[in-house]
Amino acid sequence: METFLWKELLDPYEQAVLELLTKFNNIEREYKKKGLYSPIESVDGRVKSVASILDKMQRKNISFEDLEEKVEDLAGIRIICQFVEDIDAVVRLISRRTDMEIREERDYLTRQKASGYRSFHVIVWYTVNTVGGPKKLQVEIQIRTMAMNFWATTEHELQYKYKGELPEHVTRELTRAADAVTVLDDVMSHVRSEIMDAQTQSTLRLNLVKEILGNIEGLYHAENKREAIKVQKEFYRIYQMDNMDELERFAKQLDILSEGSRAQSVEHIVRHL
Ligand code: GTP
Ligand code: MG
Repeated sequence: METFLWKELLDPYEQAVLELLTKFNNIEREYKKKGLYSPIESVDGRVKSVASILDKMQRKNISFEDLEEKVEDLAGIRIICQFVEDIDAVVRLISRRTDMEIREERDYLTRQKASGYRSFHVIVWYTVNTVGGPKKLQVEIQIRTMAMNFWATTEHELQYKYKGELPEHVTRELTRAADAVTVLDDVMSHVRSEIMDAQTQSTLRLNLVKEILGNIEGLYHAENKREAIKVQKEFYRIYQMDNMDELERFAKQLDILSEGSRAQSVEHIVRHL
């Protein structure tokens, strides 16, 4: 048999993982920047190791020719959500994108696996542009809650430890844990709106403080140092009040002040031309 060039095979998959990590992280950032709740809590990704690829090929009797077609998780992305409802939002988000095409959906949420595993998988077609030209490849995206992820990670480690032959008592405990995860996700769903509100509030506050500090810095650079120091002092006083209304009022006033100062500095520049 010829030597198999693993690096050559896996390089485009590595590129896909890197690109998708950036893209999904950007979605999260976009939501947060707008002060909105993000259905994505965190993103993780990996290229399957050669050892796991060989294991899977052996287990499923997959030939080298069929490898890219049948091992759909050469590139894997894992999206962690806070709430079950977010999983659906993420799937819809993926289906609306023009740079990914859903090939298959595997719903292990409504059809929990016998092991207790719950998650939503989407296999997508994704095109990477390499120096050798475009390459369309499959990526497995696993979407699950933090609680489901906790269970899956633990179960995976136990499977590894016992080489896939879990003792009866471990299986029993894992089933109990899986049930507890379902209950936990369910309870969390009930408090979802409250938690979302709190998160939106805290993001809004962070964005507001950022805007205020930006404006103060603007004042400072617009030859208005004394004014800037005065405003900064006032900001610290208002900030300590821990009152969102006051903070918003202050931000608005500062906005007007900054506008004026910008106009003034333009005048100043024009006068000195
Ligand atoms: P493999 O399980 O990878 O051989 O692929 P498959 O063709 O059976 O697809 P499936 O959708 O069942 O699994 C894809 C991936 O989901 C796996 O590689 C795991 O990462 C994850 N997964 C599926 N079942 C389980 C499970 O029972 N426990 C854990 N921890 N992970 C699972
Ligand atoms: Mg499987």
